[in-house]
Amino acid sequence: MVRKRGSSQRWLDEHFNDPWVKQARREGWRGRAVYKLAQIDARDRLLRPGMTVIDLGAAPGGWSQYAAEKVAPGGRVIALDVLAMPPLKGVEFIQGDFTEQGVLEMLRASLSGQPVDVVMSDMAPNMSGMRAVDQPRAMHLAELAHALAVEVLSPGGDLLVKVFQGEGFDAFLAELRADFPRVLTRKPEASRDRSREVYLLARNYQL
Ligand SMILES: C[S@@+](CC[C@H](N)C(=O)[O-])C[C@H]1O[C@@H](n2cnc3c(N)ncnc32)[C@H](O)[C@@H]1O
Repeated sequence: MVRKRGSSQRWLDEHFNDPWVKQARREGWRGRAVYKLAQIDARDRLLRPGMTVIDLGAAPGGWSQYAAEKVAPGGRVIALDVLAMPPLKGVEFIQGDFTEQGVLEMLRASLSGQPVDVVMSDMAPNMSGMRAVDQPRAMHLAELAHALAVEVLSPGGDLLVKVFQGEGFDAFLAELRADFPRVLTRKPEASRDRSREVYLLARNYQL
């Protein structure tokens, strides 16, 4: 009898055979997502010593871990997630839902007016599997990251934001282009081919 494999079993198989998962474990990173940022950074030279960086949707912490190494010495990484995240050296963590005003206030308070060099968002909603529900939720998170970026970025600052191709993508791209002179689309090798996920890198913010 041929047994039908469930989607969670397929996910487990894929996860444990994934070369990025294995590499992350070997190299001591908190998850495969780190390679997406590392690959974008290698190409676009995003992070440098001394920078102040905000990492939205930071848990379990791969991007924050990587950013903390890259901005040292003298830099600052402020990470935020609705989920708890075990502490990381060189990373300040705020736990809360970024769609809530009070959480945004906490983030503002921790900056206390300090300008930010890079806002990055790898936030993704809990996927229901229904595109009509998931896509607007994902676009909303990207729009909130954009709104924060235009509020806190210093001139010349960059926004790196995860989006999903589909409804609202083109309109969001146009919004970014209105605020940033260069907007690049990145699909790092570590991002699964079948995922609609892409990253938009909006560069050189001008007030
Ligand atoms: C793909 S994971 C991020 C992985 C992370 N970049 C890393 O390297 O470990 C997406 C994260 O976004 C977070 N997230 C989703 N919606 C959020 C919200 N409204 N506020 C804060 N975090 C949110 C999720 O909890 C999840 O941890």
